[in-house]
Amino acid sequence: MIVEEFITKSYPKTIEEGKVAWESPSNIALVKYWGKKEHQIPANPSISFTLSKCKTITVLEFSEKENKTDFSFDVFLNNEKKDDFKPKIETFFKRVEAYLPFLKNYHFVIKTENTFPHSSGIASSASGMSALALCLTSVDRMLSKNHEHLNKSFFNKKASFLARLGSGSACRSIEGSLVTWGTHEAFAESSDLYGVKYPFEVHENFKNYHDTILLVDKGEKQVSSTVGHGLMHNHPFAEERFKQAHKNLNDLIAVFKSGDLDAFIKIVESEALTLHAMMMTSMPYFILMKPNTLQVINKIWAYREKTDSKVCFTLDAGANVHMLYPENEAKNINQFINNELVEHCQNGQYINDKIGLGAKLL
Ligand code: DP6
Repeated sequence: MIVEEFITKSYPKTIEEGKVAWESPSNIALVKYWGKKEHQIPANPSISFTLSKCKTITVLEFSEKENKTDFSFDVFLNNEKKDDFKPKIETFFKRVEAYLPFLKNYHFVIKTENTFPHSSGIASSASGMSALALCLTSVDRMLSKNHEHLNKSFFNKKASFLARLGSGSACRSIEGSLVTWGTHEAFAESSDLYGVKYPFEVHENFKNYHDTILLVDKGEKQVSSTVGHGLMHNHPFAEERFKQAHKNLNDLIAVFKSGDLDAFIKIVESEALTLHAMMMTSMPYFILMKPNTLQVINKIWAYREKTDSKVCFTLDAGANVHMLYPENEAKNINQFINNELVEHCQNGQYINDKIGLGAKLL
């Protein structure tokens, strides 16, 4: 599957060497992407809040090489050479080569760091793959004499398109603060190929929304997201689940407009639990939640019962709990976390993050 629009035909310029750097955030899905077709095409549309503090900073250095038949690159995480990252990047390079025909002309040094601990159980693939895709799109732009075809909106679209080929959720990390990915009838511009900024009205209640990530379990996941997506093929509940995602995304349009936080909570928590229900009903089945995940969920429900808080939780493909809440609750929720929830976090660790504006050129 080749998408003409994103192919750079030729590069009029030559550059012997250069350097570019981007920082790109993680994102948290409200309607989850779970299940995909060939070529990183999502089985259902999704929507996410772009985060601001959890991000990857990537510096890409490139220098022209003699032999132009293979990919050549080295990867460093926190200045330490990481050869175990190479297969994933090699796969990514193969997938995007048609769109970035300079890839075999250069040797690349990829230096990357995350603002969150690598072993925190926070997926770095969204921020990491989007940061790398942005660096490569910048090189694509540097080599093109006429920048016209890479104006800002096309630049973001191409970066998102490439990021998706690295990791699906990464295509939602280029811009902020609410991004949808996957075709949906209510969104005229929506696409399976890249993320687009949420185009409709968003109520004040959602401005500066907070996401505190409770690091419940920092261990390696037993089942990767990529394997989990695969298990949605022939899954007994797949079709209903995909329909439900369309409906939830549709229902969120009215919620974002009205600021109805009770309706928001219902959709977001149901999405999180449905995602994990899909895992538990796959064949083979698996469970990524840990006892502390459930402890935290129950305490959030009890807290909502006894206060008029609008805090809710969501989960990604892991045991950590994302607590989502409006700005005006920040102080109370911080107290709640310190009084009741830190005991369920590994080494008492959590990250206070917020909705953010997207990636930045450094
Ligand atoms: C549960 O984007 O990590 O976080 O495309 O195989 O790299 P790949 O999967 P990935 O899946 C993320 C799934 C999720 C939900 C979401 O972010 O929408």
